[in-house]
Amino acid sequence: MIKNEIFRLLESKSARVGVIGLGYVGLPLATEFAGKGFKATGFEVDESKVARINTGESYIGDVESSLIKELVEKDRLRATTDFDDLKACDAIIICVPTPLRKTKEPDVSYILAAAEEIKKRLRRGQLVILESTTYPGTTDEVLLPMLEETGLRLDEDFLLAFSPERVDPGNPQFQTHNIPKVVGGVTDDSTEVAALLYSQIVNEVHAVSSARVAETAKLLENTFRAVNIGMANEMARLCYALNIDTWEVIRAAATKPFGFMPFYPGPGIGGHCIPLDPHYLSWKARQHGFDSRFIGLAEEVNSRMPEHVVQLVSDGLNDDRKSMKGARVLLLGVAYKKDIDDVRESPALSIIDRLRSKGCEVQYHDPLVSEVRFDDAHGAVNGEPLASVELTDEEIKAADCVVIVTDHSQVDYRRVIDLAQLVVDTRNALNGELRKGSAARIIRL
Ligand SMILES: NC(=O)c1ccc[n+]([C@@H]2O[C@H](COP(=O)([O-])OP(=O)(O)OC[C@H]3O[C@@H](n4cnc5c(N)ncnc54)[C@H](O)[C@@H]3O)[C@@H](O)[C@H]2O)c1
Repeated sequence: MIKNEIFRLLESKSARVGVIGLGYVGLPLATEFAGKGFKATGFEVDESKVARINTGESYIGDVESSLIKELVEKDRLRATTDFDDLKACDAIIICVPTPLRKTKEPDVSYILAAAEEIKKRLRRGQLVILESTTYPGTTDEVLLPMLEETGLRLDEDFLLAFSPERVDPGNPQFQTHNIPKVVGGVTDDSTEVAALLYSQIVNEVHAVSSARVAETAKLLENTFRAVNIGMANEMARLCYALNIDTWEVIRAAATKPFGFMPFYPGPGIGGHCIPLDPHYLSWKARQHGFDSRFIGLAEEVNSRMPEHVVQLVSDGLNDDRKSMKGARVLLLGVAYKKDIDDVRESPALSIIDRLRSKGCEVQYHDPLVSEVRFDDAHGAVNGEPLASVELTDEEIKAADCVVIVTDHSQVDYRRVIDLAQLVVDTRNALNGELRKGSAARIIRL
């Protein structure tokens, strides 16, 4: 049986693992396999990423360049743009992007492109796993028919599974090896072999009965976050209207040892997961005549947060008898979350765009993001990228309003609060101690 053949290769670590897409998910994964003694090959369409890996240079914050260098030198890790090398791989894991179309419908074209490359080279004895987040049914309704067009048969010739990725970029406590992995195969043999593969690199594997369950579990996790963040954001707006300190309310509620889990408000949601993934679920639900109302409501509340932040800036300036037009606004942080350099879907872009449309002069400082580019959705600023400014005393003093959008650890908030006139804090970066004795006026979300 094909299962036993692949089993033997995995147990002896003589299997070659191919990872398609070397981004935030794929690079740490390929590195983990290489570090555990497998030969790992990364397949990338971006030539510059391939060149950087092969010279031992990392471009992902959570992966050290020294580790990449060591694995490349030991001939355990390499990257390529040549998909013919897929033939030599025993396990192939797809980690390509799954964005949304402008219509907010799933865009699985990257998965299809990767699957097409596999299909051209599929051979007997291969295990194919999809990790990209997607709607329930993608693995067995889309990938399986494509792979079977080769004439090869599932279970007899190859195996196919889905295993969602849960990596949390910038989280020093939880990384690939200590985040439990959910695995669901299209067949039992596929589940068993995929579970064995992952058990070589993670402490805990949770096998489920099908690829659909694994696909849906991932969407539940991220929808859970989107909905609860939506609830926290609504509470923040409600508390602002009632003049109550939201953060103190959440801190108090979180002392309950059961039945409550704290979620925090913010300037809006960002990144490649929380703003997108729930749409994959609601789209699939709609195909079956089901309207997922929590998802729609959370999206509505979360997407209005940048507008609310701009309102706080306007309220603050108004109290100083200043208008938005011509006001100097300095944003601190443009990454979508603390201590990472990723600006995908970041609410900061929408905030900058809205402030500019009101006539504000906007600058930003982000120690991890040297410049941002605005796409069509965020209004091209004369096609020019906006560059991070240095956080000098003069820059802080000259700002009519400083807006903390991302609470990076490297920023000295004491200095900000000592020099600024007005601060809008969307992340509770200025905790009670910091606020004591501050000359700046502070408006918190
Ligand atoms: N970033 C996260 O925190 C995170 C967490 C969990 C799950 N995910 C999911 O994992 C998947 C990948 O996300 P990511 O953040 O790593 O994306 P990414 O954009 O950082 O990386 C994807 C990589 O795939 C490459 N690529 C695109 N098409 C390709 C092709 N046909 N062949 C080879 N390479 C190709 C891109 O050049 C890029 O380097 C998505 O489905 C995402 O939803 C992401």
